[in-house]
Amino acid sequence: MPAVSFQAISKTFATPKGPFQALNQVNLDIEEGEFFGLLGPNGAGKTTLISILAGLARASSGRVLVQGSDVQADFAEARRKLGVVPQELVFDPFFNVRESLRIQSGYFGVKNNDAWIDELLENLGLTDKANANMRQLSGGMKRRVLVAQALVHKPPIIVLDEPTAGVDVELRQTLWHFVARLNKEGHTVLLTTHYLEEAEALCGRIAMLKSGQIVALNRTSELLQAASGSILQFKTDAALPPALAMAARVTGRIVQLPAHDAAEIESHLAALRVAGVEVHDMEIRRPDLEDVFLQVMSGTSASNIPLEGVAL
Ligand SMILES: Nc1ncnc2c1ncn2[C@@H]1O[C@H](COP(=O)(O)OP(=O)(O)O)[C@@H](O)[C@H]1O
Ligand SMILES: [Mg+2]
Repeated sequence: MPAVSFQAISKTFATPKGPFQALNQVNLDIEEGEFFGLLGPNGAGKTTLISILAGLARASSGRVLVQGSDVQADFAEARRKLGVVPQELVFDPFFNVRESLRIQSGYFGVKNNDAWIDELLENLGLTDKANANMRQLSGGMKRRVLVAQALVHKPPIIVLDEPTAGVDVELRQTLWHFVARLNKEGHTVLLTTHYLEEAEALCGRIAMLKSGQIVALNRTSELLQAASGSILQFKTDAALPPALAMAARVTGRIVQLPAHDAAEIESHLAALRVAGVEVHDMEIRRPDLEDVFLQVMSGTSASNIPLEGVAL
């Protein structure tokens, strides 16, 4: 039985401009024990899908099962199996950190939970803040509390919606260390993130969502292998010739240029030479997950990204 089974999920919102379809026939099974990544640009429908899973929004059609429990018909049972860290920072400002976690335990009917609460505080670097009021915490600290709240009832399935958006490196490392440990101990993890290097490092399998539809679904290693061509990467302070600038991904001084084959690498280098662009630290590398993502989203490699249902 899958940990989570999305079955033909569609969602249409009523908006002032008329109906808007945020999800279109999403079929996806996440197996027990997976570390699964759900990727997609802003607005792709990731949070909508997670809200439907968490029972916070209703699908227009289709159904979601959590270890066999329907999130609508069997809400309490399904909800108890899930620990959801929402994308938005929502919290009750009147309580301190420990009180919030005790209250959350109470919602799930878990009594005498202080030993586990202490362990959560410790593992998330919150021990010092146990008695601090939620209002007084920085954004990053609030994010940690949200993670602790999601885990307070020891759910078998952990769902994280952009948990590292805008948080510092230290929290990212603390969080990944802890979540990876929980996954090793048997918890299923469903993660959405904008940080593709995190997804590449952590997720065994990945689905890419675009405009409410799954456009790629496979093991991370397969996605990387199926990516075509190479990336010519270098540093420069000069402006690129227009033809190259159009094709390049530029981050500060770092330029990354996709190339289908050796001939295209040669022609890129020739264009740079003709334009008198001085390059440093040049390398040619295999595409990483960010390159694969860009290929999939631009539709340039849909054909060689295998779409498969139950690859494990
Ligand atoms: N309550 C809502 N009413 C209308 N449109 C919505 C609502 N919630 C989300 N949307 C729209 O649905 C699309 C998907 O949003 P979302 O699931 O938040 O995307 P993601 O999490 O992938 O960035 C977006 O275009 C968003 O504007
Ligand atoms: Mg979102």
